[in-house]
Amino acid sequence: MTFNFNQGLTIAQIITFTVTAITSVPLFSSYLRGVDTINPIFTHHLPVWFGFAFILIAIIKISIRKKLILNQLGLKDAWGNLNGKNEPAIEVSNLTKSFGRIIAVNGMSFTVSKGEIFGFLGPNGAGKTTTIRMLTGILAPDKGSIKIDGINLAKDPIRAKMVIGVIPEAGNVYGDLTAKQNLALTGRYYGLSKGHIAKRTEEILTALGLYERGDDFVRTFSKGMKQRVSIACAIIHEPKILFLDEPTEGLDVQSRRLIVDTIQRMNKLGCTVFLTTHNIEEANRLCEKVCIINKGKIAAIDSPEKLKSTFEKTQTIEISFNQRIDKEALSNEVIFGVESMGDKLRLHTDNPDKAVKYLVALAQEHGVEIVSLVTCGPSLEEAFLRLTGGGE
Ligand SMILES: Nc1ncnc2c1ncn2[C@@H]1O[C@H](COP(=O)(O)OP(=O)(O)OP(=O)(O)O)[C@@H](O)[C@H]1O
Ligand SMILES: [Mg+2]
Repeated sequence: MTFNFNQGLTIAQIITFTVTAITSVPLFSSYLRGVDTINPIFTHHLPVWFGFAFILIAIIKISIRKKLILNQLGLKDAWGNLNGKNEPAIEVSNLTKSFGRIIAVNGMSFTVSKGEIFGFLGPNGAGKTTTIRMLTGILAPDKGSIKIDGINLAKDPIRAKMVIGVIPEAGNVYGDLTAKQNLALTGRYYGLSKGHIAKRTEEILTALGLYERGDDFVRTFSKGMKQRVSIACAIIHEPKILFLDEPTEGLDVQSRRLIVDTIQRMNKLGCTVFLTTHNIEEANRLCEKVCIINKGKIAAIDSPEKLKSTFEKTQTIEISFNQRIDKEALSNEVIFGVESMGDKLRLHTDNPDKAVKYLVALAQEHGVEIVSLVTCGPSLEEAFLRLTGGGE
């Protein structure tokens, strides 16, 4: 449900005038006549009742203003998104796409709620980019339906594309234009006025740490800077839904932080985020819900915490010794899947008590010292590996 501001104001005014009329007119007339026709408490405290009516007017007006402010920030409808957290932003049903004999996406169905950060995880070749390309109207599905903010993408692609912003896997900025020109071009594509484009350009380039370089050609930018320009273009029109295909892949910590901050800021303002990433820790920190896909199919879809608890039985132990120990020697009936991690070893176990006792005995037997030992609960990475067969 979406109210526009004028409609909201009219409703507010009607409520205000009605309340004022109901409370004050009979009271005022009885006050003039000096008769306590209703209740003495009303006539004796008439100024209080007027005050009450004015406070009510102020509260209603401020709440309308607040919604207008959110609306002007661009990412919330005057009322719709504030109340629409559980309404679907993206609805996908039986989505299928093949390239020759390869079935890249195989009958996927899922829903992303408004205001959610939805993580789309899967190993290389799982079908993430193919799915995003279909959801953003770049690639036509063989089968299935897609609704974006309630709009059928196949029937009304232009209207659906107007409410989304896309950061594709390969980037989509023009090297022969400056950062500001890229933003101006994208802004005009979405029908924004020159003044609005100038305001948004300054805001966004400043937030992304690129304002100083705004007049330089994008071809002279580093990979991380190009990616930030790509994000700037995707959000210039304040989209309701943002699609990002591995936005932080291969970037340094600072660029990654700027991008993650931008995603979170957009989301706080009501933007729904559909994010594919290889960075499982990032998905764990950012996403309310994650969908793990494998070979074109959904393997699991849930909140990170619920997915982790599915694999509750398995715990990991990170251990380092002052000398090298053969990985094979560490495996026993309660320890499985020994991996090297820099100077540490990560072991998987379903019985941490027995496993730790075994490791201590083993260290004594080999005459080596344990430098560090940490037991960790189930991780999203563990869930990911189990669901996608990578942990077997
Ligand atoms: N245009 C295309 N022509 C032929 N095959 C394609 C095409 N695009 C994708 N595929 C195939 O579809 C499958 C899914 O590819 P997709 O790019 O969607 O994977 P992904 O999950 O994004 O992987 P990555 O993590 O490597 O980006 C792969 O087997 C890929 O080879
Ligand atoms: Mg991809």
